[in-house]
Amino acid sequence: MTVAITREVSSRFSECELTHIDRTPIDVNVARAQHHEYVNSLAALGCQIVELPAETDLPDSVFVEDTAFILPEVAVITRPGADSRKPETESIIHALSPYRPLVHVTDPATVDGGDVLVLGKNIYVGLSTRSTASALEQLQNLLNNYGYTIIGAEMQDCLHLKTAVTRVDDKTLLINKNWVAPSYFKGYELIEVDPAEPFAANCLPVGDGIIYPTTFPKTKQRLEEKGFMVSTVNVDELAKAEGAVTCCSLII
Ligand code: GLY
Repeated sequence: MTVAITREVSSRFSECELTHIDRTPIDVNVARAQHHEYVNSLAALGCQIVELPAETDLPDSVFVEDTAFILPEVAVITRPGADSRKPETESIIHALSPYRPLVHVTDPATVDGGDVLVLGKNIYVGLSTRSTASALEQLQNLLNNYGYTIIGAEMQDCLHLKTAVTRVDDKTLLINKNWVAPSYFKGYELIEVDPAEPFAANCLPVGDGIIYPTTFPKTKQRLEEKGFMVSTVNVDELAKAEGAVTCCSLII
């Protein structure tokens, strides 16, 4: 059984952090409705949903992906780069404890889960404004015994590594080559985003399907032409907070 941990949208969602996009008005009720649709899509693809209550004082806390990443052997609790987001890990520690032993990234290192792309035994970490070189060193030490290799990936013009590249399946990645160099991912089939859709590289494979935003029809077609079953959700209001489909869940 696949478990998806999600968290309801904070009533202060419009006070979210932003890095690479301008602030535009956010309707929290619309964001909540879209998040509900997203959670329903996860359930429709076979996930058992563990929905955590909203954290009113933590505007970005719907983006649970940034607080942890989960490996077969262990779950890593991150230390998010934005100070407003650091307290988000507290409730995630409780939520993940039943599923995995936990290890923790500690001060002074910071890393957002959105920067962590796990491809088998290679773990790519985006060198973003949120994730530090010292986090790479800590992660290597924490995960050495399990046989993982941590690889820092230079990136540009977007918040997280997974804004620029995500896993579609074991052999295939979806990528915006302007934001991260394809040379990091030799041996993978790379599906490029349509040039008119730079934010289209974030997809979430679950079960037999791919959860994907309605906003990127041209890139969706590229995924479908390769035989992937794409299940679209409207996450436009969440995207105004620099969120995407991977950001809103922790998949176990
Ligand atoms: N608003 C998402 C983030 O900046 O982390």
